[in-house]
Amino acid sequence: MTALFRLLHDADLSARNTFQVAARAPWLLEVNDTDALPEALDLAQIRDLPLLMLGGGSNLLFAGDATGVAVALRAAGMAIVADHGERVVVRADAGADWHALVMWSLDQGLCGLENLALIPGSTGAAPIQNIGAYGVEVGEHIVAVEAWDRQVQRMVRLDRAACAFGYRDSTFKRQPDRWIITAIELELARADAGTDASTDAAPRLGYAGIGEELAAMGVVRASARDVAEAVIRIRRRKLPDPAVVGNAGSFFKNPIVPAAQAQSLLDAHPRLPAFPGDSDATRKLSAAWLIDACGWKGAREGDAGVSAAHALVLVNHGNATGVQLLELARRIAGSVDKRFGVALEPEPRIIGAHW
Ligand code: FAD
Ligand code: EPU
Repeated sequence: MTALFRLLHDADLSARNTFQVAARAPWLLEVNDTDALPEALDLAQIRDLPLLMLGGGSNLLFAGDATGVAVALRAAGMAIVADHGERVVVRADAGADWHALVMWSLDQGLCGLENLALIPGSTGAAPIQNIGAYGVEVGEHIVAVEAWDRQVQRMVRLDRAACAFGYRDSTFKRQPDRWIITAIELELARADAGTDASTDAAPRLGYAGIGEELAAMGVVRASARDVAEAVIRIRRRKLPDPAVVGNAGSFFKNPIVPAAQAQSLLDAHPRLPAFPGDSDATRKLSAAWLIDACGWKGAREGDAGVSAAHALVLVNHGNATGVQLLELARRIAGSVDKRFGVALEPEPRIIGAHW
């Protein structure tokens, strides 16, 4: 019988972060049965120790060791919990692999998550930064997030509004020490209930590159599965595989700047990609373009570098430390600020140092 939880002392986290940098935690608590979480937190007597939730480690940079206890949730169930005909509610445990959930939902004949295929990491981490790709954010589909609230020491259920989702943002990201997400509920549509663009089941094809990829695949009328396949192909081409070279995806968020500042930058640099911001008064700029324009693409300082495939991705060529990667990131941000007057913010959570 599998133990409900397991507590390890002085745990090595180097294989538990996709940057593959050396890091340790004084304690690692692996919880196999979510119902045992309060008991595990109690028995391990760690309720007041700093706690680091750890999923797949694909959005973490260890610039130092974890203090306290790293907690990994292992339950990985996924099920349809409500069926309203064209709309279905799916519930998935935090420990489920995100991409496996996307592919499972397509196997069930459900659509909505196809643009989010191949994003590494766990389901429990998906709401943290409201994962997004190819024109879709997970928050659009989230009905509720189930979590252990460390502030009140009980399980809570937050609806979508309470999650306060934004671009790479949520209430969970703003209060990282408060929540242990145990499961999420997603509303999805029956796939191919109609490819008419007016229905929720219509594939979202607006993001640059998807239409071209589908055309190259010979697809005329795209199903949700075709879109997932197109996204997977684009991602494999554009982004380095963390199993081959350590990385955490985009290292910086795309900066959101006042519309007037965006306009003066666009006047000087008409090729700079710019998108709607979070209101009419702002615009979102391409951090990759800004970094590329400063000459960083493919740069290398020891084993810390910038991917030659994508300027927004920092890579560990072998034995870079988290501190070396962080120092490189600071130099990159410094040069973008100096040349364009735009401040870049890191996307991954940094452990052991402040940005
Ligand atoms: P971790 O890195 O383990 O943790 C991330 C944060 O979530 C930490 O603050 C952690 O403490 C917290 N956390 C984890 N689990 C829980 C939990 N159960 N409860 C509370 N807090 C928790 N992101 C995108 O949005 N879009 C992309 O297209 C994308 N592409 C990527 C491509 C590559 C190659 C890589 C390496 C990363 C990419 N990412 C992308 C970033 C990353 O995949 C996501 O942020 C993912 O959700 C992180 O999941 P994780 O389980 O690895 O989280
Ligand atoms: N570009 C360059 N140089 C490069 C790469 C890109 O100039 O080396 C320019 C190109 O003009 C390109 C534009 O940047 O058209 C945008 O590039 P891309 O489509 O790859 O998107 P991104 O803005 O760099 C964002 C997300 C990704 C997500 C993709 C697809 C952020 C911080 N990143 O990247 O998410 O997969 O869009 O939707 O929002 C992640 O968060 O880890 C991540 C990978």
